[in-house]
Amino acid sequence: MTFDTSIDTELTAPPCGLSLKAFVPHNAKDIDAADWNARRWVSPVKGELKLGTDEHKDSVCAMFRETFNPYKPTIIDWPKLDSEARERLISLPIWDIAVQTEGRARQRMLSYAYSLSDPAWRSAIEQNGWEEGRHKMVLSNLVKAYGILLAPEPPYLEPKDPEWAYLVTGFSECIDSFFAFGLFALAKQSGFFPPELVETFEPVMQEECRHILLFANWLAWQRRAMPWWRRPWFELRVLAVWVFLGWERIGIAKGMDPSGSGESVAQDNNFTVTGSKAVSNVDVSIGEIMELCLQENDRRFAGYDKRLRRPTTMPSLTRCATRVLRAGRAVKRRLARA
Ligand SMILES: [Fe+2]
Ligand SMILES: [Fe+2]
Repeated sequence: MTFDTSIDTELTAPPCGLSLKAFVPHNAKDIDAADWNARRWVSPVKGELKLGTDEHKDSVCAMFRETFNPYKPTIIDWPKLDSEARERLISLPIWDIAVQTEGRARQRMLSYAYSLSDPAWRSAIEQNGWEEGRHKMVLSNLVKAYGILLAPEPPYLEPKDPEWAYLVTGFSECIDSFFAFGLFALAKQSGFFPPELVETFEPVMQEECRHILLFANWLAWQRRAMPWWRRPWFELRVLAVWVFLGWERIGIAKGMDPSGSGESVAQDNNFTVTGSKAVSNVDVSIGEIMELCLQENDRRFAGYDKRLRRPTTMPSLTRCATRVLRAGRAVKRRLARA
């Protein structure tokens, strides 16, 4: 199944018996309650929650379903911007890539969900795909509201290997969300954009946190639940995904599409890593940005059951990098004193 690329497409009803709620804009009580519910969840299972067990799978899938935020993208009240703020927003080099990334994530997650026979993972990943479609709708409404022109979208083609496509999308989200959490906090602190505009993206940010929590637990469950003889091949695929993403991210393929699907990557694929200058007028060092990403990552995951697996690669790499930076600064100070 290949999806319609029109940004005007109506959002379909959510899957798995979930429904949307017509919040009255600015009804802070309702919106805060939905936000609270999306951020906190503890499994009713007592004691140890062993990774790879049915209790683990059922807990992760219940977390994903029960923390669903029922907001309708159409109720978002886009604030009026002065010409300077509007110009700053329009000139961010991300709008095409952001809309297309959500469209591609929806396609890949739905394709993987429909390939599964396990009803619990199928429903959770289908819901995840639907939520990506809602993100795309939020972005589409934003670009319309502020008169941002988009390049025509490519068709979102059904992947030939849905598991590979899900792995690529899941690990990509783990990288992008980690940096996006920090950039979002920086945008909030700097006041470079009006707070009402930044605030409209809060549910999207927290949803990305839930998505990567689901992905990390699906991965941990898969690793333990699959027969031992399948594991080496699976791990090779995981390694290949990281190589692929590294190749994509360091820009060897600048201007080319590494997936070979012919979809455009002309805009900044690395914005979440390099975009601090575009969302803040304060000079922030790379070390400070990394610390902020780590703090925000911890804060966003803090409300979910501690027994669920968290994404670990980006936080570990960043912790290592901050230690190296700190050691480098200490050596520099010592040399300056000598
Ligand atoms: Fe998304
Ligand atoms: Fe996502």
